Amino acid sequence: PIAATGDLIAEAAAQQRAVAAFNVITLEHAEAIAEGAEAAGSPVILQISENAVAYHRGRPRPLARAAAEVADQATVPVSLHLDHVQSTELLHRAADCGFSSAMFDAAKLPYAENLAATRAAVLWAHERGLWLEAELGQVGGKNGEPALDAHAPGARTDPDEARSFVAATGVDALAVAVGTSHAMTSRDAVIDHALLGRLREAVPVPLVLHGSSGASDEELARAVAGGIRKVNIGTALNIAMTGAIRERLARDDRGVDPRRYLADGRDAMARTVARMISLLPSGRAQ
Ligand code: G3H
Ligand code: ZN
Repeated sequence: PIAATGDLIAEAAAQQRAVAAFNVITLEHAEAIAEGAEAAGSPVILQISENAVAYHRGRPRPLARAAAEVADQATVPVSLHLDHVQSTELLHRAADCGFSSAMFDAAKLPYAENLAATRAAVLWAHERGLWLEAELGQVGGKNGEPALDAHAPGARTDPDEARSFVAATGVDALAVAVGTSHAMTSRDAVIDHALLGRLREAVPVPLVLHGSSGASDEELARAVAGGIRKVNIGTALNIAMTGAIRERLARDDRGVDPRRYLADGRDAMARTVARMISLLPSGRAQ
């Protein structure tokens, strides 16, 4: 059934575990994520990013409504989250499109501007009962930017700034830059667990890890033990999907029915989802 992101995260936080949030690009992603979460026996978040909306010709509703239907029919609780929103116009469509939460991404702006824009987003969201996540520091690596910046200590979230930012904005969760970066295809990110510990002490709201595809099984489990409550995963599913499709097309260079290779891609994503959920301390399958 459909759940609210805020409820899933609150429940996870009370039990010191995390909820995995997977990025949805196609209907097959949504189906695979629900299937994988069912196999793991765990709640899950379907998140659609502003980039995915752009891919769908700028229209958020068709994919969001399909994802909502998948969530509704799942046997585990599934919520819908609008991810990495920079456009206020898109943010303002969140409720209408069926999202119970959004991540407002003003992390690239200077601190004062990020704070002001995030504060406005929070006010808007809370008036509508939406749960709002924001980012401080820069995870980096989005839209093909060089990921190197994200590993620079200057891009990391500062605990004192984080404390003031959360108090001044009223955000429900904070995405932190602690050593991961987006779109990594190797799982060798080194998480600064000492910094994560300081952030956890400084900030009263749940912490979110972005770019989680780049972290190893051990690093992810340790990050959750260290206070991460929402684990955002995108690229790992795309690696699984594309690999399976590539394999199928290499084996069969005559077939034209997309269902054949898309089914392979979907199965591979579902397996990845189940495996990644189970390795988090959240994984009920454990
Ligand atoms: O918000 C989405 C995540 O941060 C996904 O990052 O594609 O590197 O796993 P990833
Ligand atoms: Zn992200």
